[in-house]
Amino acid sequence: PKKIIIDTDPGIDDAMAIFLALQSPELEVLGLTTIFGNVYTTLSTKNALHLLEIAGRTDIPVAEGSHVTITNGTKLRVADFVHGNDGLGNQNFPPPNGKPIDQAAAVFLVEQANLYPGEVTLVALGPLTNIALLDSGFAKKIGKIIILGGAFFVNGNVNPAAEANIFGDPEAADMVFISGADVIVVGLNVTHQVVLTALFHKTILEADRDKLARSGGKFAKYLCQIMDIYFSYHKDSYEIKGVYLHDPATLIAAVDPSLFTYTEGVVRVQTTGISRGLTILYNKQKRFGEVSEWCDKPTVKVAITVDAPAVVKLVMDR
Ligand code: BDR
Ligand code: CA
Repeated sequence: PKKIIIDTDPGIDDAMAIFLALQSPELEVLGLTTIFGNVYTTLSTKNALHLLEIAGRTDIPVAEGSHVTITNGTKLRVADFVHGNDGLGNQNFPPPNGKPIDQAAAVFLVEQANLYPGEVTLVALGPLTNIALLDSGFAKKIGKIIILGGAFFVNGNVNPAAEANIFGDPEAADMVFISGADVIVVGLNVTHQVVLTALFHKTILEADRDKLARSGGKFAKYLCQIMDIYFSYHKDSYEIKGVYLHDPATLIAAVDPSLFTYTEGVVRVQTTGISRGLTILYNKQKRFGEVSEWCDKPTVKVAITVDAPAVVKLVMDR
């Protein structure tokens, strides 16, 4: 199986992605690293440990990540209105028994990349601070970085410009996109096609959510318990038939990259003004050849289309 590390801010869709990874025979999860985003980092770490306990996988290490942005200059924005104050649907779960390992996330990432050079896929489901802390040696040693972040040619979800993970640390995101690592970016333009349906939409006869609830599976049961707030946020905020599967869809890019198509180009992040956090893709290398901030930079692969029914089916099955 493919060795992966998940950098995460759990988070309801992060929980789905983590379970999905544990249920995927194609993957071997080497560890979880945590970051602020949906909640502050301390709580992200607790949630990561809790989710592994739910899954019966306390053999997997959790390494705690940065508590502040890369510039330490921005006030953090958490998303309690999407995921609950606890990040997991306000269920008052008891605290986890386990503890994070003594290594910081960045140290753990470097260690694993050195242990398995070129073999590790890092799936980044929160702001990119932990990864931006690493140097160009890491970019060469890590196999691949698959990022849930950005919104290419569509509006963001924090504001019209910015998607939440990029908005969480725009300077860090810009550094990672031009780091020279082998990067795949999955943005809202793709994840907004991947919807887990819910009954609150009258036209749906059999919603995915109800199938999950009826399935009796351990993971399905747990997810149905925590997902209510995620459903009501989507019901109030979007004209869609359920909830977006941002993080699980991105995890599927590690399981089966052929379910997406990609374009290759330079991605830069706006760091100032009202469009702070905007991701800009430039994939025609010649026209602006003289502008080195765009054209001399390493390229990344940006997901453009997705086989959404196949992704939702994999999520449901697993
Ligand atoms: C991203 O932000 C978080 O709320 C989700 O967990 C996902 O990683 C979507 O913009
Ligand atoms: Ca996330």
